[in-house]
Amino acid sequence: MFPEISAPLPDPHSIEFRLGTPTITPLSTRIWHEVWRKAIEHLPPNMCGSPKGDPRLRAALAEYLGRARGIACQAEDLIITSGATQALDLLARAILTPEDLVGFEEPGYPVARHILAASGARMLPLPVDDDGLCVDQLSQCPRAPLLVHVTPSHQYPLTTRLSVTRRLTLLDWAQTNDSLIIEDDYDSEFRYHAPPLPALASLDTTGHVAYIGTFSKVLTPALRIGYLLVPPPLRESVERLKRFSDYHTSWPTQQALAILLSEGHLDRHIRRMRHHYAHKRQLLKEVFAPITPLAQLRGLDAGLHAYLELRADLDAHRVAQEARGRGILVSTIDICYAGTPDRNGLLLGYGGLSVKDIARGGQILREVIEHLAGEIREDVG
Ligand SMILES: Cc1ncc(COP(=O)(O)O)c(C=O)c1O
Repeated sequence: MFPEISAPLPDPHSIEFRLGTPTITPLSTRIWHEVWRKAIEHLPPNMCGSPKGDPRLRAALAEYLGRARGIACQAEDLIITSGATQALDLLARAILTPEDLVGFEEPGYPVARHILAASGARMLPLPVDDDGLCVDQLSQCPRAPLLVHVTPSHQYPLTTRLSVTRRLTLLDWAQTNDSLIIEDDYDSEFRYHAPPLPALASLDTTGHVAYIGTFSKVLTPALRIGYLLVPPPLRESVERLKRFSDYHTSWPTQQALAILLSEGHLDRHIRRMRHHYAHKRQLLKEVFAPITPLAQLRGLDAGLHAYLELRADLDAHRVAQEARGRGILVSTIDICYAGTPDRNGLLLGYGGLSVKDIARGGQILREVIEHLAGEIREDVG
């Protein structure tokens, strides 16, 4: 149920708790038109620009990262990419060879796992708990991974946040072993009633963190635009790969984003969206509150999806299948594992659903879970 992987279109009447999907409609079309009118005021240049991206966008982004994530950087430190996906692909191609070892969260983001594994490198699954990646496992590896991919703001898919202690331990480990941490900060803008935690890139003083960000969650993945902050020794090779990949990210989209950022529209949109998603998240919480002994909703502090952990005897696949029969599409957590899953539950992307569909879809899902629990009771009885 990843939007990146093409699947048959669902029935238009079904409700899909699709992962990784935001809502764009609260952005006013008046502002959207105004921004694009300005972006295309002049004809585009008659030649390609820098593979690093438009200087105005990079300058606006450097400022944004400073105020939003506490990351001190300059325009020249950033490379604009066609989404976080391309940023990760460029890094993998710049760094990895088939003999290398890559630490990866288990469960983790499958698309990132595929990209990193495509280099031929060996993937080392690293467990995740309520404090995020179990960083201590790294020091027990016989060989230190060259690279570790991590989602510290909102672990994908479990939705936990990497504790500050673990952030410092991870940085310390990377420095000692001269390894690179890839900080995939895909949806850090959305945090609800939880204090902000410092980005790894903001704590890094020795150049051991590559930071990836994206506009896919704050706006929409349809724009295909993201960014990458890499330590200086890697910049040249990443820039070269970007040039040989697509020269640079589409010029008008970069212009539009530079305007959205520098005129404050994006900050205002993000502030509005925090309330928007907080409301949806609260609704989801209320729907499942009555069945906590059967299913516990986790990871409501941040992001656009939640993890519904099912009681051990309630088979997640069976729940998903019954729900599908009633027009509700959900993902099971096992799709995020490379090995045997040690959890049983569902992933509920709520960012792209209307309030009405969250309430209706959640209610049906709850009924399915209650029904299956009732069947188990009868069997036992
Ligand atoms: C953890 C994580 N990283 C990266 C991405 C990809 O983002 P983009 O659309 O910018 O390629 C996603 C998208 O869902 C994601 O969930």
